[in-house]
Amino acid sequence: RCYTIVDIDTCIACGACGAVAPDVYDYNDEGLAFVYLDNNQGVIEIPQLFIDDVIDAKNGCPTDSIKYADEPFNGDPLKYE
Ligand code: F3S
Repeated sequence: RCYTIVDIDTCIACGACGAVAPDVYDYNDEGLAFVYLDNNQGVIEIPQLFIDDVIDAKNGCPTDSIKYADEPFNGDPLKYE
């Protein structure tokens, strides 16, 4: 299982995540990323098809703002840190 969330406090709007995982991440008006599947709550299980993209996005984020876990985040990007 895979859940993901963006830490919007540390995102610098670099745009890498939406490029590698366009089905998972989108950007707000300021260019900050969020998980559009669940409005960045980290509560909807990511479909298997998109998990590799999520891992690529996590590895590519320069500020480590993409979080990934096998349990839901319930809206808290730092829940497992
Ligand atoms: Fe932000 Fe990282 Fe995506 S800085 S735009 S969460 S790649």
